[in-house]
Amino acid sequence: MSGHVALITGAASGIGLATARRLRAEVDGLVLVDRNAQALEALQDEFLDDDGQSSVMLAYELDVADAASWGVLEEQVAEIFGGIDRLVVNAGIAGGGRIVDTSFEDWRRVMDVNLDGAFLTLRSGLRLMRRGGKGGTAVVVASAAGVKAEPGVGAYAASKAAVIQLARVAAKECAAEKIRVNAIAPGGVETPIWRDAPFFQSLVASEGGERQAFDKMAAMATPLGRFADADEIAGQIAFLLSEASAPMTGAVLVSDGGYTL
Ligand code: NAI
Repeated sequence: MSGHVALITGAASGIGLATARRLRAEVDGLVLVDRNAQALEALQDEFLDDDGQSSVMLAYELDVADAASWGVLEEQVAEIFGGIDRLVVNAGIAGGGRIVDTSFEDWRRVMDVNLDGAFLTLRSGLRLMRRGGKGGTAVVVASAAGVKAEPGVGAYAASKAAVIQLARVAAKECAAEKIRVNAIAPGGVETPIWRDAPFFQSLVASEGGERQAFDKMAAMATPLGRFADADEIAGQIAFLLSEASAPMTGAVLVSDGGYTL
């Protein structure tokens, strides 16, 4: 990927972090965005070159749902790198509860990050690709929950179905500019996002640890009987960003161990 500049949101943990590590050696510029300042700081140390400098990385502590921050980021990234040609729209939060029990506040909290944040990220990313002037590729991290209906995840599922359609529309709007936009819809992935889910917390307690809890969840509804790890999803994101996927745009890569079958 020599000569490329990539922007990744939610880069301080899980899938975003694995993707940053995966792309690091392949790009000339890496713009990492997350709202977790402490985790970003730790990452900065990891991403230092041998001479103690970070020649490729910019880190932004930013809430992806904050429209004003994106304006500032766009200008700074354009000034430093000219533009970008790789984008990973990844930051997201979990949210549970049946629709009848979901407060409007909880609905808005999920939509704010997962949908508004994805829109703002995609919009700025596409603008920065335009400024870079050489086209590019974007991957929107959706979820199998946006494809398959399950009880108890109304807000999360609606946000992920919406970002899939956003990616499809963007693909059609941007094809003439040589910009490809695809989505990935993972099933279960072993990342810290699950730690916020009461269901997972009780499984950890009853099964005796996270490893056992992930195995138990995978056994419930995933035909392959396993969740993915973050590195596996990062590899598939790298594929969608690369020339190996050149004929694909507006596609949804379902990577779920058969969960949606
Ligand atoms: P994670 O919790 O490990 O990482 C998410 C990162 O996003 C964190 O570093 C967090 O600080 C950041 N973030 C959250 N809200 C933010 C905001 N408003 N502004 C900036 N940064 C923010 O979670 P994971 O699993 O890596 O999730 C990444 C994406 O993958 C999410 O969109 C999630 O919905 C999606 N996904 C995850 C699955 C899983 O089983 N782990 C399955 C399917 C999709």
